[in-house]
Amino acid sequence: MEDSNIKEEGAAVDAELAKAIMSRQFHPSLIGPEAWEGYMFSDMEIRIKESTDLYGAVLWPSAMVLCYFLENNLDKYNLTDKNVIELGAGTGLVSIVSSLLGAKVTSTDLPDVLGNLRYNVVRNTKDRCKYIPLVTELIWGQEVEQRFPLATHRFDYILAADVVYAHPYLEELMDTFDYLCQENTQILWAMRFRLDPENSFVDRFRQRFHVEQLYDLPSLSIKLYRAWRKDGRTKNQGQAAA
Ligand SMILES: C[S@@+](CC[C@H](N)C(=O)[O-])C[C@H]1O[C@@H](n2cnc3c(N)ncnc32)[C@H](O)[C@@H]1O
Repeated sequence: MEDSNIKEEGAAVDAELAKAIMSRQFHPSLIGPEAWEGYMFSDMEIRIKESTDLYGAVLWPSAMVLCYFLENNLDKYNLTDKNVIELGAGTGLVSIVSSLLGAKVTSTDLPDVLGNLRYNVVRNTKDRCKYIPLVTELIWGQEVEQRFPLATHRFDYILAADVVYAHPYLEELMDTFDYLCQENTQILWAMRFRLDPENSFVDRFRQRFHVEQLYDLPSLSIKLYRAWRKDGRTKNQGQAAA
C-alpha cells in the first residue's frame, strides 16, 4: 500500500474513534442549581462536577479515551475483582468507570482535589458497584512507601490519564509508577502531548518499562499506552534491578 493511502486510512480510523469517544459526553438539558457534565460509560449515566480553579477539577479528554478503551476491551482487560489504583484522578471519571466495571479501586490525587473527587466518586458509584472505591491522597514521590507498603498493596492495574504536562514533579511521577508497578502490574496510561518535555518523559519511561501503544489519536493529541516492568523487580524493594 502506498504511504499516502496508509496515512489516509490512519486519519479515518483516528477521526472515527475520536468521534465515538467524544460522543460519550453530553450536557444537561436543563440548567439546575448545580453544574455538571454527563458521560455514558458501561451503560450508566455518570455526572461529573467540575470546579474551575484547579487542574484536577476539570475533566480532560484523556480520561474519556481511557474509559472508552476499558469499556471496549473487557475480553483482554477484565477489571472484575482486580486491584486498581488511579494516579492524578482529578474529577474521577476513570476511577468511577473502573468501579462500575467491577474493580476494587483506589482513587488518588493531591489533597486539595480530594473533596470534589470524593463527591463525584461517591455520587456515581453508590449502590452501583461491587466494591466501594477508596479515595485517598497520593502526592507523587512523597511518602508513597509508607502510605502504600508493598507487603499489603499489590495492584493489577495502575491507571493514569493526562498526568504528564509541564509540572515540576515528572521525576516523582516516574518514581511513583516505578514503585507501584510490580511484576504482574499493568500500567494503562493515556497521554496528551502538548510540549517537548512530555516527549522526553515518554523516552525515559521506555527505558524503565516495556511499552505498547494501544491507541494513537492525532486529532486529540492523545496516545494510550500499556506498560509493564522490564526488570520484574523494583529497586524500591531493596533489590538491585536485573
Ligand atoms: C491534567 S489533570 C488530569 C485529571 C484526570 N486524570 C483527567 O484526565 O481528567 C492532572 C492531575 O494530576 C494531579 N497532580 C498534579 N501534580 C500531582 C502530584 N505532584 N501528585 C499527585 N497528583 C498530582 C492533578 O491534581 C490533576 O488531578
